[in-house]
Amino acid sequence: MEHHAIQKVYGAYSDIYDALFKRFFYPRIKHAINYMDIKPGDRVLDVGVGTGLALSEYPKFCTVVGIDLSTAMLKKAKEKIDENSYSNIKVLSMDAMKVGFDDDSFDKVFISHVVSVVPDPYMVMDEVKRVCKANGQIVIVNHFKSRNRIVEAGEKFLNPICERIGWSNDLCLNEFIKRSGLNVYKKYMLKKIDFWHILFATNNKSSAGSDVASYTRLDTVSTEPPF
Ligand SMILES: C[S@@+](CC[C@H](N)C(=O)[O-])C[C@H]1O[C@@H](n2cnc3c(N)ncnc32)[C@H](O)[C@@H]1O
Repeated sequence: MEHHAIQKVYGAYSDIYDALFKRFFYPRIKHAINYMDIKPGDRVLDVGVGTGLALSEYPKFCTVVGIDLSTAMLKKAKEKIDENSYSNIKVLSMDAMKVGFDDDSFDKVFISHVVSVVPDPYMVMDEVKRVCKANGQIVIVNHFKSRNRIVEAGEKFLNPICERIGWSNDLCLNEFIKRSGLNVYKKYMLKKIDFWHILFATNNKSSAGSDVASYTRLDTVSTEPPF
């Protein structure tokens, strides 16, 4: 989706987003953040923080910066920060494809339900790798194109509608990992049949993406949750 469409669509969603999506999104967000290795003093970047569904999950001993393009979504996140006095969390209006932080500013990065919304997920991943420290943790929760041919055909058919209502459903998981050059050490779904994957990766700064090594590693990655 292009920037103006994102502003328009997510501006319209902001008031009803939690009521519509919390029941689907929150369990995976909660799970993923709870399994992140966040240590006291860590700086965490939440890319596309939206209404701040994830904010209640971050421990008080880390500092969190949430960025988003939509001012209406950010307003909701800000309300949660104020209501709950999350003094360790701030949110900023910022394009995830052009992040205004110095290199190596964060220890951990969390990205939920965003890489299939942005115009270019690989520009986002380049920025994420740049602002995250070497070997820092990058955790992604997202829907990826199904590997079941029938489901994939249905997704393809529905994609033009999905793009109008806020996301695309044709992002391929293997291609995403390969092109973003992430060192994914764990990938799984919370249920046997699920629409969303959870990826745990380390920031492989030296990889420019599309390298064969990171692609090959995929075959050795477990698809089981870490418990
Ligand atoms: C589906 S929502 C996900 C929000 C939240 N991460 C969650 O899981 O509930 C996608 C969010 O990505 C934001 N977004 C889309 N493109 C963006 C960009 N280029 N930079 C920053 N945020 C963006 C949208 O404004 C929206 O808030």
